[in-house]
Amino acid sequence: MDLGIRGRTALVGGGSSGLGRATAERLAEEGCRLVIWSRGADGLAKTADEIHRRHGVEVISLAGDASVPGVGARIAAEATAAVGRVDILVLNAGGPPAIDPTKTDPAGWGRAFQLLATTPIEMATALLPAMRASGWGRIVAILSSGIRQPIPDLVYSNAGRGALAAWLKTAARAVAADGVTINGVLPGRLTTPRIESLDAGRAETTGQSVESIRAGHLATIPAGRYGRPDELASYVTYLASDLASYQTGTFTAVDGGLISGLP
Ligand SMILES: NC(=O)c1ccc[n+]([C@@H]2O[C@H](COP(=O)([O-])OP(=O)(O)OC[C@H]3O[C@@H](n4cnc5c(N)ncnc54)[C@H](OP(=O)(O)O)[C@@H]3O)[C@@H](O)[C@H]2O)c1
Repeated sequence: MDLGIRGRTALVGGGSSGLGRATAERLAEEGCRLVIWSRGADGLAKTADEIHRRHGVEVISLAGDASVPGVGARIAAEATAAVGRVDILVLNAGGPPAIDPTKTDPAGWGRAFQLLATTPIEMATALLPAMRASGWGRIVAILSSGIRQPIPDLVYSNAGRGALAAWLKTAARAVAADGVTINGVLPGRLTTPRIESLDAGRAETTGQSVESIRAGHLATIPAGRYGRPDELASYVTYLASDLASYQTGTFTAVDGGLISGLP
């Protein structure tokens, strides 16, 4: 099936690992020119080279830390300078630390909101005018099942991503008539370095084995397994495609049935 995005440009956050990397790969497979960004220049350059070799598309990498003020606007400006106009924006970076929800502090909230809400909003705000002027644009945010069913020790994530979701929904309505769609996807538990490190961290703080932490999670997932990054990337790519032109302001779980309530 032709998704109609060959030759489009895509800016993908966290493009060197896990969900962001899988999404970059899938967009490259559809013929998109890519800009990937994250903190580590070396990992990015290696990933850019691998994706270019595999799919033959141009892949540019930019380094920046999403938890630092001003980086969202800088990356947006550098990506625009590199490719002309960003047609597809995938909002994604790393996640905040796990913490007891009764032990948060203002500095932690500041970092979490910068990482999860302020930076992506700043980036999207910078790129929206060109998308609207061209009459075509796609913004897809990788959020978390935690915005619908809070994850007990990830309160910074639950709340920070909740704030971003509120902005996405509001902005989606404001730009819908200009051919720009804005949607979110909610991963449950998909195997990536972040999920492996969260499981290892929980094992350490609770004194259980990683296998027992994992078994506890698996018991809550009707599909009976963790997901694969490509299972999320395919849906993000569909939302970024020409085919999804009438879908905006939506938040869809890719979670093997983990969220137990109605949407
Ligand atoms: N995997 C899941 O099932 C799942 C579920 C719910 C939510 N999520 C969320 O989805 C996002 C992606 O997770 P993942 O599982 O793909 O994790 P991952 O494999 O650890 O990848 C994270 C990516 O983000 C980059 N990154 C980390 N911190 C960053 C920062 N401060 N600024 C810019 N880039 C940063 C990393 O590269 P550098 O180290 O080079 O910066 C890497 O490319 C995270 O926010 C995570 O919390 C994931």
